[in-house]
Amino acid sequence: MAQVIDGKQLASQVLEDAAAEVEWLKHHFESVPGLAVVLVGDDAASQIYVRNKIKRAKEAGIASFEHYLEADTSQATLDALIQELNDDPGVHGILVQLPLPEHIDEARIISSILPEKDVDGFHPANVGALSQGRASLVPCTPQGCLIMLRHVHQDLSGKNAVIVGRSNIVGKPMAALLLQENCTVTIAHSRTRDIRKVCQEADILIAATGSPGLIQSDWIKPEATVIDVGINAIEVDGQRKLIGDVDFDGASQVAGAISPVPGGVGPMTIACLLLNTTRAAKNQLT
Ligand code: GUN
Repeated sequence: MAQVIDGKQLASQVLEDAAAEVEWLKHHFESVPGLAVVLVGDDAASQIYVRNKIKRAKEAGIASFEHYLEADTSQATLDALIQELNDDPGVHGILVQLPLPEHIDEARIISSILPEKDVDGFHPANVGALSQGRASLVPCTPQGCLIMLRHVHQDLSGKNAVIVGRSNIVGKPMAALLLQENCTVTIAHSRTRDIRKVCQEADILIAATGSPGLIQSDWIKPEATVIDVGINAIEVDGQRKLIGDVDFDGASQVAGAISPVPGGVGPMTIACLLLNTTRAAKNQLT
């Protein structure tokens, strides 16, 4: 049976690091890191994610500024809010929860956030910095995945890493991070030919597709490390249940190590967001 990578436990260590950074900033600079969270609309999953982010921020001693906007909020109103947050010296990090409603130009909003306050690491300047190996704010989910991988492997160098999913939030930045770790990186996606065979070559398999249970035990190389980024709400016997992109029960018979859902990548993402907020606050010390 595979080692189960405990995201909750690892995240609590990262949260402790973030809380220590907050204390350091308060003690030496009388600076309280501030995180602004913007949620547009009433998407149920986004509401839960945002609530958890704010709860953990408060626990770590980070000041949070919550902005809940109606689903029909105009682009101009959102633009104006971002400007206000960019100008506010008490706000060190700005997170706009994605996805945004269809009528909002997401790329324009992301680009309007000051790169030094972009705690998601989605601004083109931060994306470029990451791809050149000089990142300061790295997207939270891939950062969390890397911490989990380093927990299992002292050295990732030379390993075959296959990432299933090519999103800007996970797949692409994950590829950049693993390349920096000297992995041989493949990004597989919905148009990949014989995706199962590609996955079977992976020493490290990252599943970030949003397709519940897509990845079955016969996709996995024996003793591979499997990180499941998927968080899919499904109904089983009338009960809502969260499952990942990987068939956990089957995969854990084959893999060497595997992250569960829930209790895997999810808590790591939040912990890394808070770490990014303290990094951003440090970078903004004058
Ligand atoms: N939606 C899903 N994941 C994320 C994330 O990491 N950041 C933001 N802003 N929105 C998301």
